[in-house]
Amino acid sequence: MDNPTYQQKLDQEGELWGRVAEESARSVPPDWRSHRVLRHNAIMHTRHIDALLSQVRPGMHTLELGCGAGWLTLALAQQGAIARGLDISAPAVAIAEQYYASIKPAVSGRVLYEVADLNAVELPANTYDIIAAKGVLHHLYAVDRLIEQVHAALKPGGLFWVSDTHGSEATSTALIAGALMLVLPTQTSYRQKLGGLLRFRAGAPARIKASIQADNLSPFEGAGREHDWLAMIAERFEIERHSEHPAVTGYLTAQLRLPDRMALPLLRGLYRLDHALVRRGVLKNTGKVLYARKRAV
Ligand SMILES: C[S@@+](CC[C@H](N)C(=O)[O-])C[C@H]1O[C@@H](n2cnc3c(N)ncnc32)[C@H](O)[C@@H]1O
Repeated sequence: MDNPTYQQKLDQEGELWGRVAEESARSVPPDWRSHRVLRHNAIMHTRHIDALLSQVRPGMHTLELGCGAGWLTLALAQQGAIARGLDISAPAVAIAEQYYASIKPAVSGRVLYEVADLNAVELPANTYDIIAAKGVLHHLYAVDRLIEQVHAALKPGGLFWVSDTHGSEATSTALIAGALMLVLPTQTSYRQKLGGLLRFRAGAPARIKASIQADNLSPFEGAGREHDWLAMIAERFEIERHSEHPAVTGYLTAQLRLPDRMALPLLRGLYRLDHALVRRGVLKNTGKVLYARKRAV
């Protein structure tokens, strides 16, 4: 499609994430209780999501931005929240609704999923105790507008929880990730890896970086990378906690082709080393988890 319009790109985005949600729902139900054991969650996300869920009290109003197949919105409701989830992907939202309907009597809170474009959404003022956004801000071009909406929609003292990429990958980090992926068994065979190195020669580092950034994955992938969402949030909110993901472990977690009994200890060891190097500033990561509080007036 030459020069697709905004609406056409939005449609493509919705279809893409609908396919991702369908594929995932074929192997695991869209429920945090089953998702938490998946390898990338066990290594990278479990403690952050459990920390978010521990903030929920029964009857709280929560909103998830970019809820996909709905597992995090549902997890918030399982803690007793009145939980709303918004996403641009109608097929992903349909999967979320279907699954919620199948377990509704066992959920202590309530769930409402809706299709909405976060670049243009109008949120009700002073309504939510918690707003969560996982992996969505970097797909948006109107991030500043959305952050303003979020600020107005939270009650005083309300929590904005974000887990997302921030900025672009440092070439040195991409090269270390690339080198690890080259020597360890991954989804790509050693023959293909060697073929790629010979073919791209001096251009190989740029190719590795581009593939790690997954620029061609979605029509909006990286649209929000130019926006410094962290600074935008810090301008309006009190940053309560801010943690960094490790720099290279995430890429390897997605790619490593070893049975769990070998992969999990290897990835956990790498996570600790990687994290220590990020804290000392030796490696630069792009994944951030942020707890931002709306100041109580
Ligand atoms: C990386 S996925 C993350 C999904 C989910 N938060 C998770 O962690 O599994 C990004 C999600 O953002 C949604 N998204 C992208 N652009 C959007 C927009 N403009 N408005 C609403 N949702 C959008 C996609 O449909 C997709 O479900």
